[in-house]
Amino acid sequence: MNCRNKFCNTEYTGEMGVGDQVAVRREGSIAIIEIDNPPVNALSNAARAGLLRAVQAAAGDASIAAVVIAGAGRTFCAGAEIREFGTPPLEPLLPDLIDAIEAVEKPVVAAIRGVAFGGGFEIALGAHARVAAPDARFALPEVKLGLIPGAGGTQRLPRLIGLAKSARLILSGDPVDAVEAKALGIVDTIVDGDLLAGAVAHAIAMAATKQPLRRLSCSDGMLSVDKADPTAFEAEAAAQLKRSRGLDAPAGCIEALRNALTLPFADGLKREREIFVRLRDGEQSKAQRHLFFAERAALKVRGVSKEVKPRTVRRVAVLGAGTMGGGIAMCFASAGIPVTIVDPNPEALQRGLGVVEGNYRASAKRGSMTTEAVEAALALIGDSSDFASVSEADLVIEAVFEDMALKKRIFADLDRLTKPGTVLATNTSSLDINEIATATSRPGDVLGMHFFSPANVMKLLEVVRAEKTAPDALLTAIDLGTKIGKVPVTVGVCYGFVGNRMLHARGRQVEALLVEGAAPADIDGAATAFGYAMGPCAVGDLAGLDVGWRIRKESGAKAPVADAICELGRFGQKTGAGYYRYEPGNRTPIPDPEIDALIGRIAAEKGITRRAISREEIQERLAYSMVNEAARILDEGIAERSSDIDVIWINGYGYPVAKGGPMFHADRIGLAKVAERLAHYAAITGDERLKPAPLLAKLAAEGGSFAAFGRNAGG
Ligand code: 3HC
Ligand code: NAI
Repeated sequence: MNCRNKFCNTEYTGEMGVGDQVAVRREGSIAIIEIDNPPVNALSNAARAGLLRAVQAAAGDASIAAVVIAGAGRTFCAGAEIREFGTPPLEPLLPDLIDAIEAVEKPVVAAIRGVAFGGGFEIALGAHARVAAPDARFALPEVKLGLIPGAGGTQRLPRLIGLAKSARLILSGDPVDAVEAKALGIVDTIVDGDLLAGAVAHAIAMAATKQPLRRLSCSDGMLSVDKADPTAFEAEAAAQLKRSRGLDAPAGCIEALRNALTLPFADGLKREREIFVRLRDGEQSKAQRHLFFAERAALKVRGVSKEVKPRTVRRVAVLGAGTMGGGIAMCFASAGIPVTIVDPNPEALQRGLGVVEGNYRASAKRGSMTTEAVEAALALIGDSSDFASVSEADLVIEAVFEDMALKKRIFADLDRLTKPGTVLATNTSSLDINEIATATSRPGDVLGMHFFSPANVMKLLEVVRAEKTAPDALLTAIDLGTKIGKVPVTVGVCYGFVGNRMLHARGRQVEALLVEGAAPADIDGAATAFGYAMGPCAVGDLAGLDVGWRIRKESGAKAPVADAICELGRFGQKTGAGYYRYEPGNRTPIPDPEIDALIGRIAAEKGITRRAISREEIQERLAYSMVNEAARILDEGIAERSSDIDVIWINGYGYPVAKGGPMFHADRIGLAKVAERLAHYAAITGDERLKPAPLLAKLAAEGGSFAAFGRNAGG
């Protein structure tokens, strides 16, 4: 085995074999065991088995005085191999491996660089000391996968840092850096230079002192403070639980942590495992694991090989200082990328800049950004009413009025004024980007970057690949999207792209259900029972009904109920009334008999006899109408894989995480059932769009799934 460490003087193989995913060597009397499973040293079965063998060999070797556990390459360990959760567990199980590490009768030091996440962090907690590089990050992110830490994290961490701080870490799933970890008491020493050399020195010193080893399972440690007074923990738990959005894992984390208070370590560990296994085998965790892999799969785009590299973007220009332009500019400034907002209308420019500054000041006031971060971001935002200033940008995002002639004029100007290789993006939500690209002599540089409102908040970024978009231009938008903290998903050109096209399909059902007999509160009640935070009618009132109304008036489209509501001047919360009415200063929607009467009149005009509609029918028609449209979208190649559609709906439209996205949900229900229900609703309503789309019908007949269609996400 090749040694990567300059201090290594002897090869020490323990009992390692090929495929053990663990590398072992020795330096003097110290055994160095490295988890070696690229790219992130996940704890696959082979890695666990290899680690156990290596630890046992070192423990039994009288010439070894102490052990260092590290990760090969740039990271310690990203935790359990998530893909293995879908397969029967093989021994050694992680909790047993960690028990074995902790039980070693000589010092075991964890040397952490990069990430110690999940089971990786739990291994470090099983060691007797933790030494970290400055770039180390620690997290127990299991909750984000619908799980709890399942290898002692809920029992050992509270003994090390106390229960309330453990609750914050475990329930948020968010990482802490080396400095914070040191302050919390997770890390014994931060090593600025050679981490392994520092860890070896630490291990030698521990072996020399012959002090009793600190096994977290053996004493209450910081837990004794919580046992005397658990109020800080209970307050943290209650605060975190409020954010659990219908998910089971947060309550599981709290239950396991509370057990640390009341049960001996061994019993707490056993209960932790039981909760972990129950959640791991449940639907929610399957959905959340699907989303983990789906987000990563979405970054891999057909026809873009590994050799293609993104273009360098040092400066961005945003055209238009309106609702979208300001928010988009904030995304770049917050990520440290200089951005110029260009708007020919000086008043609009000043208004837009004022909104941007106001948003930043509000973030500082809320405490979500420091004052320094706000000042740094504002300093990166330039403004200009001179279009020629785009010449300095490496990427331009156009966010002007939704008008094809105007956009074509602007793209012709951009063609003239920008440097060769500048990526030319439009934020259009409905116009044909292929047509916009014809206004330039370089359609390879043209694409869509479709942000969602409010652009500085919403995670989703639809990256729209036009017919002639060059692979490296596309990759530039995806890469930049990731850098500014968005979740980019590549889609093709069609009206509404993926997200809004499906939203329109659902919107047609909202209209139909209202006329057929449902009240707005019935529809919203069905949607929230399904798992949405708000139903479509309440969302419409919040966003403002007038926007869609104006667009429909221009395009000639009709939505009889929504149009009639707008004609009464009821545009939603901002006018105190929409689908519901609102008391002044209160956002609670109140059902309004005036709307019931209005819908009744529309139904009568259409000759429809209204009927009671079950919650199940409402939920199925809302969910499956979207799935049917998505089947068309997949068939047309507008979305590359069904998991991309799930990522879009989770990050852009508040689809319930617990269900894994519309396509994952449909697969879990079974496509035969989805197709059968759609056919039934098409028959009773006469709505042709509800007839199962050809791809859905085909997959349903074959017993297939969306996941298996085309190349989907891996997990
Ligand atoms: N298992 C399997 N694969 C994993 C993995 C894991 N724990 N963590 C990352 N990967 C894979 C990714 O899917 C990706 O694969 P791909 O190249 O085929 O798409 C590859 O590793 C690289 O990952 P990223 O693209 O995410 O790389 P980044 O550098 O951006 O991020 C990371 C690295 C911070 C480690 C991030 O991947 C991450 O957060 N991973 C998940 C960590 C996690 O949730 N751990 C807990 C697991 S559950 C557990 O440990 C249970 C225990 O308590 C019993
Ligand atoms: P807006 O009306 O708020 O702002 C448009 C701005 O463009 C105005 O400030 C105007 O002065 C400016 N402008 C006009 N001509 C210009 C030119 N030649 N150069 C530079 N600036 C110019 O519009 P909004 O809502 O921000 O929308 C912009 C684009 O974003 C549209 O294409 C829209 O479809 C799209 N979009 C809008 C979303 C929304 O929720 N508002 C969501 C996603 C996309």
